[in-house]
Amino acid sequence: MASSDVRLSVALVDVANGREQEFLALATRFEALLLRKQYGRAEMIRDEAVPLRFYAVRHWVDATAAERCHADAEVQALTATLTQMAKVTHVVNGVRRQGLPSRFLESRRVGLESDRRSGFDRRAKDVAPAGGAERRARARRLGPRRVREGAGDIDLIGAARRAREHADAAYSHFKVGAALETADGTVITGCNIENATYGLTICAERVAMFKALSEGHRAFTRIAIVADTEAPTPPCGACRQILWEFGGNLEIVLANLRKTRGTHRLKDLLPLPFDARLL
Ligand code: THU
Repeated sequence: MASSDVRLSVALVDVANGREQEFLALATRFEALLLRKQYGRAEMIRDEAVPLRFYAVRHWVDATAAERCHADAEVQALTATLTQMAKVTHVVNGVRRQGLPSRFLESRRVGLESDRRSGFDRRAKDVAPAGGAERRARARRLGPRRVREGAGDIDLIGAARRAREHADAAYSHFKVGAALETADGTVITGCNIENATYGLTICAERVAMFKALSEGHRAFTRIAIVADTEAPTPPCGACRQILWEFGGNLEIVLANLRKTRGTHRLKDLLPLPFDARLL
């Protein structure tokens, strides 16, 4: 498909404290309206690294659909309500198409080596400073240049709790969520996904890691793991191996739906690891 046909608008939405539920309900109404009037489709993507920040992505049918949508009284009423509960910053204008800022997309890869075959060397060594959960965002400026300046503390446990909601645990009914933090402060989530053959089940931690790797991330600092149990749910043996191979001595934050249940280093959970150094 020719990219010139695609009309995309993206807005950065920072929601006021205490207005999130109202905002999400409004976003759902907006999505339905766009579909009903055939202007296009909309999706609201939560920025897991910044509390209360969302990206409103709109894919217009064409440029005129975007213009008709902007002129629509019903849309204008919803937009007026939105601006009372959130600060909206337009990032990509779909009508006067400017293309995605490639500098933004490329910046995550800055400073990372291109292709390292050895699993052990692939890891960023000890990139997480001590006292991780408590540290401020500024102290986390490690590895590639951060793309989110001025972000608040990353709510990694919150992201894992939300990811857990998507778990597909039809057989064990044991839902797990994970949130992996990259060295540039990006958060990639995962949940467990089970299968009728049982053995093909994949844990939340590996889903998060494989998603991250497939999107080009190669340096990691922390992972939060959440289950609805009083005792903490540590990563299984297979996940420890995968996390070690690609994440190194990660900080492992264990939590349930209410509170943090402990913080560990992966080296302590996998004290005598097998890795590429031994091949
Ligand atoms: N599970 C995880 O996703 N992560 C863990 O750390 C422990 C176990 C999943 C796998 C399976 O779907 C269910 O929990 C029960 O073992």
